[in-house]
This record gives sequence, structure tokens and C-alpha cells, in this order.
Amino acid sequence: MNQNSAYVGRVIGNIRTSKWWNHRRFRIILISVIIFIIFVITLSLLLKFVILTPKKVQESTSTTISTTIIPQPRWSNTSKMHQSRRLHTSTLLRDGKVLVVGGYNGLVLRNAELYDPLTENWTIIHNMHTERYGHTISNLNNGNILICGGYNNDFPSNLNSSELYDLSTETWKITSSMHHARHYHTASLLSDGKILVAGGAVGLGSRDSAELYDPSSENWVLRSKMNYARRGHTATVLSNGKILVTGGKSNDLALNTAELYDPLTENWIVTGNMSEVREGGHTASLLSNGQVLVTGGHDGSRILNSAELYDPTKGIWTMTMNMSNALEYHTASVLQDGKVLVAGGYKGNLTELFDPSTETWENAGEINDLRTSHTANVLLNGKVLIMGGYDSTSFLNTAELYEPLIN
Ligand SMILES: *[C@@H]1O[C@H](CO)[C@@H](O)[C@H](O)[C@H]1NC(C)=O
Ligand SMILES: *[C@@H]1O[C@H](CO)[C@@H](O)[C@H](O)[C@H]1NC(C)=O
Ligand SMILES: *[C@@H]1O[C@H](CO)[C@@H](O)[C@H](O)[C@H]1NC(C)=O
Ligand SMILES: *[C@@H]1O[C@H](CO)[C@@H](O)[C@H](O)[C@H]1NC(C)=O
Ligand SMILES: *[C@@H]1O[C@H](CO)[C@@H](O)[C@H](O)[C@H]1NC(C)=O
Ligand SMILES: *[C@@H]1O[C@H](CO)[C@@H](O)[C@H](O)[C@H]1NC(C)=O
Repeated sequence: MNQNSAYVGRVIGNIRTSKWWNHRRFRIILISVIIFIIFVITLSLLLKFVILTPKKVQESTSTTISTTIIPQPRWSNTSKMHQSRRLHTSTLLRDGKVLVVGGYNGLVLRNAELYDPLTENWTIIHNMHTERYGHTISNLNNGNILICGGYNNDFPSNLNSSELYDLSTETWKITSSMHHARHYHTASLLSDGKILVAGGAVGLGSRDSAELYDPSSENWVLRSKMNYARRGHTATVLSNGKILVTGGKSNDLALNTAELYDPLTENWIVTGNMSEVREGGHTASLLSNGQVLVTGGHDGSRILNSAELYDPTKGIWTMTMNMSNALEYHTASVLQDGKVLVAGGYKGNLTELFDPSTETWENAGEINDLRTSHTANVLLNGKVLIMGGYDSTSFLNTAELYEPLIN
């Protein structure tokens, strides 16, 4: 401060002692410099906010428009399986790979293959002991995989046998057989780690029996029978630990009924009826809000486009928005964002996404191969792997990946 005022004083002193034209020239230069600085500042402000900014706004609007209006391809082919197959099973393993087991392609299959999402390769692993389709696959809490029942061309063709895939040795081991041979049954992992197997087909009839597999003793124990014999039904583990079983076919009767298995009482209790009869080919998915979404399937005379929601707190079903296509033997996968991807089941290549928060369906892009009785698994990276199935003329070995849109 002191130095500055001393400097100003010296300048003023200099001006006072200089001649008048010197004094005026200094003022003109000073004023010109100030005017020049003001001009430069105004020009740069003008350039920054008036001339350049509208361009930026235009750019950002055009990118928003292109991402919302032009749909990104969400389906892509990945490597083909070594074997074509339908009515196989598949499951996501702990290490992120997908295990595909058995199925039918004119022959009943004994082989299994592993998909590695990192290399997108399929590797054939050891054969099971028994060839089978229409079996179930279950992830045990110890990481091993349980395969139960199914069907093949031997006698008797309904299978009671079960096998374990041991992750540590990568081999198959025969475990105890079920009390009742069955295919098109369900298998559910209970919260205590046991596997509940329910219903299924035997010959042209249906079973009402249920049995529990204990992974520690490797034994099967028969449990209470369901209220209805069923084959081709669904089973969903609810967030309260109960198992919801829906529809299916009871000998000659196509079912709209649903029932709950309570692991505490080990009993089956009838719950609300679905609005539609769904004798097979429908899906059931647990939503993050605790409700269960059931889609499509067959009512005995037609393929269904309807979807309904089960509320476990009230024990009732309510219809929700119809899908745009009637579908059967499709897949429904719960994505990491909670939406449900419905794919395959014929009626064109359109796939659909159910948004539980709005209860609406939206377009999820076009699948590359029309397929039914394929399988689908959500990978650790959030993509969905769809594999195999039947396209009305051929058994498929193709596989594709669905990549969810990130909002
Ligand atoms: C994906 O695979 C199908 C056959 O499965 C083929 O028809 C289609 O052209 C493939 N698409 C691309 C983009 O390679
Ligand atoms: C597996 O994937 C890797 C990397 O993509 C590739 O180099 C290799 O040839 C593949 N192996 C087989 C058996 O397809
Ligand atoms: C399983 O089925 C086979 C062939 O029918 C039979 O010999 C065997 O006794 C059955 N096992 C059980 C536990 O019922
Ligand atoms: C549910 O449907 C079955 C027929 O499938 C019928 O016998 C039963 O009475 C129905 N239950 C209720 C509560 O409507
Ligand atoms: C759903 O589709 C069925 C035909 O399958 C139709 O009868 C019904 O009116 C549709 N519901 C709505 C809400 O569009
Ligand atoms: C989906 O079907 C439509 C109509 O048949 C066709 O034009 C389109 O190429 C198909 N898309 C794919 C990915 O196959």
C-alpha cells in the first residue's frame, strides 16, 4: 500500500512537471488503452456466451435425440454351443460361467458344456451318467449343481436318478435317486439349503408328490402332497421363504390354481387363483417388490399374451398390461435394474421388457433367432445369455447376448 501510493505520487509529480502536450498525449494513450481493454473483454465475453454457447446447446440436443430416438442394437450373437439342444437346463455358476446340461436334438443328450463370458467360448465338459431332457438344475449352497429326473428313451423313460456336478473336481457323481421318477417337475432351493422337488409328469399323467433333498446327507424325503397334481407348472421362491407353484396340467385338467409350500409347516396351502388357466409354457419371476410376474403360456386352446401379478401379502392375482405378443416356452429374466426381459416363444423376433414400477411393457429389440424351449441366464456383468431351443424346423446351437440399456 505504502509503496503504491509513493509510486502514484511520483507519477503525479512527473505529470505536473511535464509540458502540456506531454500531459495530453499520456491521457490519450491511457484512454486508448482502457478502451482497447474494454473492447477486448467485451469481444471475448461476446464470443464466449453469445456466439459459441448456442452451438454447444445444439450439439448436446442432437446427441440426446440420437440416443433416445435411434435404438441401439441390444442383441448380439455370441459363439455357438458345440451341440444343438432344446429342453436342456442351464445355470450361472459362482465363477460367472454358465453350465448347460442335457436336452434333446433328435437324440437325448448326456453331455454338458460351459460358457465363459470373458472369452465367449463354449467348452464341452464331462458327460453326465444318464442322458436326459425335461430335468431340473439347482445351485446348491456349497456351489455344486444338482440335476434331477427328466426323460430319455430307455426303459423306464421317466427318471428318478439325480446327479451332482462337483465344481472342485469338474466331474459328475451319482447321488440318491428320488422316490418318484418325474420330468417337467420343478426344483427350488429353500432357505435351509435343501431342494424341494414338486409335481411333474409320469407317462401321460401328473404327480402331486413332493420331496426334499438334503445336500449334507444326500438323501430324499417325501413331503406332503400338493393339492393338485401338476406337470409343466412353475415354482418361485418368495422373499418370505415360501414356494409359489402356479398352473400346469393335472392329468387332463388345465389349471388356473396356485398353491404355497411353507417350509416351516412343510405343508401346501391353496392361494388365490390366477385369472387365466396356464397349463404350461408360462413363466414366473420374483420382482424386487416381492410380487411375482407370470407371463404367457397355453390355456389348452390358445397361446396367451396376458400377464398377471401375485401379491404374497394379500394372496391374490391382478391382471397387468398385456404383452404385445402371445408367447409360450419363452424365457423371463430379471435384470439387475429390476426389469424383466421376455424373449423367444415365437410370434416374431420382438423382445419385451416389463417395468415393475410403471407396470408397462416396452420394446427390448429384435432377437436374432426365433426360438422356444431355450434357456436364459443373467450374467454377472448384467448381460443376458440366451441359448439353444427350437425354431419350428431345427434344433438350435446358437447363442446370443442381450445388453441392457444403461440410463
Ligand atoms: C446372428 O446369427 C444368426 C444365425 O443364428 C444369423 O442369421 C445372423 O445373421 C447373425 N447376425 C450377425 C449380426 O452376425
Ligand atoms: C477362446 O477364446 C479365445 C479368446 O477370444 C480365443 O483365442 C480361442 O481361440 C478360443 N478358443 C476356442 C476353443 O474357441
Ligand atoms: C429308481 O428307478 C429305478 C428304475 O426304475 C429302480 O430300479 C429304483 O428302485 C428306483 N429308485 C428308487 C429310490 O425308487
Ligand atoms: C379356483 O379355481 C378352481 C378351478 O380351477 C375352483 O375349483 C376354485 O373354486 C377356485 N377358487 C376360488 C377361490 O375361486
Ligand atoms: C389383453 O388381451 C386379451 C386377448 O388376449 C384381451 O381380451 C384383453 O382385452 C386385453 N387386455 C387389455 C387390457 O388390453
Ligand atoms: C425381425 O423381423 C423383422 C420382420 O420379419 C425383420 O425385418 C428383421 O430383419 C428381423 N430382425 C432380425 C434381427 O432378424
